[in-house]
Amino acid sequence: MRTPLIVANWKMNKSIRDTETFVQDLLPLLSGVTEVEVAVCPSFVSLPALRGALSGSGIRVGAQNLFWEMKGAYTGEISPLMLVDAGCSYVILGHSERRQIMGENDAIINRKVRAALDAGITPILCVGETLQERENHMAREVVKEQLSRDLKDVSFAPGGMVIAYEPVWAIGTGVNASSDDAQEMTGFIRSCLARLYRREQAESIRILYGGSVKPENIAEFMAEEDIDGALVGGASLQADSFAGIVRFK
Ligand code: 13P
Repeated sequence: MRTPLIVANWKMNKSIRDTETFVQDLLPLLSGVTEVEVAVCPSFVSLPALRGALSGSGIRVGAQNLFWEMKGAYTGEISPLMLVDAGCSYVILGHSERRQIMGENDAIINRKVRAALDAGITPILCVGETLQERENHMAREVVKEQLSRDLKDVSFAPGGMVIAYEPVWAIGTGVNASSDDAQEMTGFIRSCLARLYRREQAESIRILYGGSVKPENIAEFMAEEDIDGALVGGASLQADSFAGIVRFK
């Protein structure tokens, strides 16, 4: 049984004060939620405030990026060990915004995935096709390639890896994938993982859907066999809509 996982990706939003206010609003809305794991990934500068505000709540803290070296002369970068020190359980890697805007390629993402695991942080590895790739019937091919390159020589303990299927055309557009299409792709992702790893290992990996997830559509996604949770952007910025997603049942 895979425990459902709902992750907030705040991207480049919220001050330290906003972070504290969000948690004050969120905690009462989530009281009594025990069957869903929740994680919030703020900006680096809000990590200490978030960790403090969430302490004792069971909600996990995650980061949105890391550098692949543990320490050294890498001006401006944040190491996996620093994230461990800041209390991070998860790190989002391979997000399409970093692939497209920051030019991260699969070789870079692979180094980051391995560095996260070496430090004991669970990667949330994002994969997904662009609209053009979908229209050209290349979605499966693209996602398969991303998985095999990003996970090259990557090993992890059962449950120690999360994949997020985020079709690029559904991110921040308000146009979500249909639950059928999302299941088709997440099922395909699991079959790719079963080729890269043993079947039990592939079965242990939680696969999230991301792309315009809202309180109104989360239940449809969660009803699908291979969707184990959601990676939420815009709708994670307000405590009430994020809580509405966590309380999908
Ligand atoms: P939206 O939920 O705003 O579409 O963003 C999805 C996303 O990119 C999460 O990582």
